[in-house]
Amino acid sequence: MTQSEIDFFDNLAPTWDANEIRSTPERVRIILGKLPISKGMTVLDLGTGTGVLVPYLSEIVGPAGHVTAIDLSEGMLSIAKQKYGELKNVEFLKIDFEEEQIPGLYDVVMLYSVYPHLHAPADTMEWLFKMNIKPGGVIVIAFPSDEKFINNIHHERQSESDHLPPAHILADMINSWGFCASVVSATEDEYIIEVRYCN
Ligand SMILES: C[S@@+](CC[C@H](N)C(=O)[O-])C[C@H]1O[C@@H](n2cnc3c(N)ncnc32)[C@H](O)[C@@H]1O
Repeated sequence: MTQSEIDFFDNLAPTWDANEIRSTPERVRIILGKLPISKGMTVLDLGTGTGVLVPYLSEIVGPAGHVTAIDLSEGMLSIAKQKYGELKNVEFLKIDFEEEQIPGLYDVVMLYSVYPHLHAPADTMEWLFKMNIKPGGVIVIAFPSDEKFINNIHHERQSESDHLPPAHILADMINSWGFCASVVSATEDEYIIEVRYCN
């Protein structure tokens, strides 16, 4: 993550929750309900932001499970910690997940509204599978909208490099990098791809 990207998210942090209208509790629960997450699992929430997924993941994995929530924006992470710092099965780490080693082994890695911000998605996913994902584990690329909604936001912010293709095209692209990706859902309200290691 560049310093200007960190500054960008630090600036957005105080108003993030008020503006993040797509991640309603109902929609987040529906999306998470479609994923292979259950009691006792370990989940990594990369780019947790203000922690929109955190209370739901914490509840699903329960006291026997664990959630590690990572962000490099101090502005975002401090809000997440204020809101959910008391949750016993959650830890917050300030790490550049594309550059630094992440501690722990996980059943599920969430990239929720984060994928377009990756600089080197193929390398990052390869590294995650090698270092942090349990055998049979999965990386989930998800958004609480379709790609048109995401691309409109990025267009308004003049960040065209963050373009998100339709889910089936991104899944094909990820498969061409040697992973096993499949589309779980592609509707106006959900964009979900699961990625597994198939080599
Ligand atoms: C669009 S926000 C999404 C936040 C949250 N997942 C949500 O849906 O509200 C993307 C987040 O990813 C974080 N991020 C992007 N690249 C990162 C990296 N390489 N390391 C750590 N955090 C990163 C940003 O700081 C930002 O908080």
